[in-house]
Amino acid sequence: MSLRPLTLLGAPVLRTVAAAIDDVSAVAIQRLAQDMAETMLAEQGVGLAAPQVGVSQRLIVFYVPESRADTAKPVPLQILINPTFVPLAPDTVSGLEGCLSLPGLRGQVPRYRHIGYTGFDLAGMKIEREAEGFHARVVQHEIDHLDGVMYLDRMVDFISLTHESVLRRQIQQEAEEADAQSKKQSPAEVPNQ
Ligand code: NI
Repeated sequence: MSLRPLTLLGAPVLRTVAAAIDDVSAVAIQRLAQDMAETMLAEQGVGLAAPQVGVSQRLIVFYVPESRADTAKPVPLQILINPTFVPLAPDTVSGLEGCLSLPGLRGQVPRYRHIGYTGFDLAGMKIEREAEGFHARVVQHEIDHLDGVMYLDRMVDFISLTHESVLRRQIQQEAEEADAQSKKQSPAEVPNQ
């Protein structure tokens, strides 16, 4: 396993529709998945799509950490090949997103609240699941990467686009103010995807 360098906004691979993977058992795919998982964790992201490491193939990795369990149950590391999703309800929710290919930025993005998704694991077994909240958000964000779509494209307006250092300061201030009144828990930081 090894870490792979991240591609950043402006790289053509991030704007390209990625190819379906025919042979899940190929050594290159197995290695790619392991490297992506390692890279995501090293970069402190919660999701990563193959184009973000310069590979235009339909593979994503993600997980839902305990810190996001307010909106979705924690989900251990997932590797999904040729993933697809469908909304199971028409309503969307707005939430802050970050992306390892857009370092330092966070923005409000509407996503379907409740989805069904499918894909294949590294053994070629079909996976079919339902997801809500943050879990649903991560899956939609990562599948977008496979279609050359960045979260910026989904933003309703750019007013909410914020540098993470500003956001961190705001969260800190709010926590301090809340702490002055009660021992309230500070909101979890928004992870990269
Ligand atoms: Ni991303």
